[in-house]
Amino acid sequence: MDGEKNHEVIVLAPVAVLPSHQKKGIGSILIQEGLNRCTELGCDFVFLIGHPTYYPKFGFKPARKYGFELKQFNVSDEVFMVYELTQGKTNSLQGELMYPESFFV
Ligand SMILES: CC(C)(COP(=O)(O)OP(=O)(O)OC[C@H]1O[C@@H](n2cnc3c(N)ncnc32)[C@H](O)[C@@H]1OP(=O)(O)O)[C@@H](O)C(=O)NCCC(=O)NCCS
Repeated sequence: MDGEKNHEVIVLAPVAVLPSHQKKGIGSILIQEGLNRCTELGCDFVFLIGHPTYYPKFGFKPARKYGFELKQFNVSDEVFMVYELTQGKTNSLQGELMYPESFFV
């Protein structure tokens, strides 16, 4: 939400791979495929709450630094991240990320 205006965005994660299948590249493929599909859908951003040691290698950055806010979950700055699918868009949009109610039932 940017002021009074709502913009639809996409949230990726949690991503999980069965322990017996980890470290074979499956997580990376899932994330990259997710980002590709978001691009095809015409999204500008992908947000997530996730491990700050894992997601930055895919290009995710701390979202609050770019003017995005998250109040529904009490999380630190480093775990709330954004990926810019359209270069330069973080300069033109700011506001609060609001998860839909289905995340809270
Ligand atoms: C994170 C996860 C999805 C990665 O899946 P994966 O299929 O093993 O991923 P990949 O094979 O593409 O990458 C594995 C690499 O990521 C690293 N990695 C895994 N979790 C990590 C973390 N929390 N922080 C930093 N690196 C991590 C592994 O050490 C491995 O490193 P290497 O390539 O140098 O050996 C998987 O470990 C998992 O399901 N974890 C439990 C759920 C979770 O924490 N999800 C992420 C938070 S939403």
